[in-house]
Amino acid sequence: MGRIPLISGNWKMNLNHFEAIQLLQKLSYELRSHNFDSVEVSVHPPFTNIRSIQTVIDADRMLFKLGAQNCHFEPSGAFTGEVSPAMLKKLDVDFVIVGHSERRGLFGEANEMVAAKASAVFSHGMVPIVCVGESLEERENGQAEVVVEAQIRESLAGLKRDEMSNVVVAYEPIWAIGTGATASPSDAQEMCSHIRSTLASMHAPAAEKVRIQYGGSVNASNVNELMSMPDVDGALVGGASLEAASFARIVGYEDA
Ligand code: PGA
Repeated sequence: MGRIPLISGNWKMNLNHFEAIQLLQKLSYELRSHNFDSVEVSVHPPFTNIRSIQTVIDADRMLFKLGAQNCHFEPSGAFTGEVSPAMLKKLDVDFVIVGHSERRGLFGEANEMVAAKASAVFSHGMVPIVCVGESLEERENGQAEVVVEAQIRESLAGLKRDEMSNVVVAYEPIWAIGTGATASPSDAQEMCSHIRSTLASMHAPAAEKVRIQYGGSVNASNVNELMSMPDVDGALVGGASLEAASFARIVGYEDA
């Protein structure tokens, strides 16, 4: 029972809803249904586009899973500017990215908040993609594994046992995000394997089930080698997901 790879396009703060629909339609044109046989594919538009994308996926019976990039952990209330998990669930969202390094670094999200978000996403019937990853300085100081292990332990604290087995983890070294500098396949493998052992020590049955994505400058040329690593079960793709042809080649990496 292998883990089904999950390839996710994180569109970040790009594209208005018209542009987002166009991208999705182009992407759908580039892909064939067999591309979805062995890989799950999620797209994560900005909040303002989710309803439009949901409608297109639904109307054209597309096989994409719908994702969000963030959410609040409370179900509702006086949290100006925030979006709740319940609102996302109502739009048929399947996956919610939580704790992306841009959220951690630019908006002050610490592991405790990421943990609250991950639990809230699960309790609303969606799956969180929990992001972890070290900075360049931490890697150069030989602290990468310690930092990532602590992020895993603290960001997944509070998940129930079945949730531990269903969570998706994205290992995204900060120095590789949007820089064109990808972790080498062996570095990615080493960290993903360390993440899996950490998961095993938290809840043994989870270790073999959890999908661990690699993220950070994934493109059509490096995806194949990264995906051939035994503990890399998918990719979280930023820049290259904004261009239909390149994201289609990433999704169809097995055809290459
Ligand atoms: P990138 O972004 O592919 O542009 O490096 C990845 C991410 O931030 O999820």
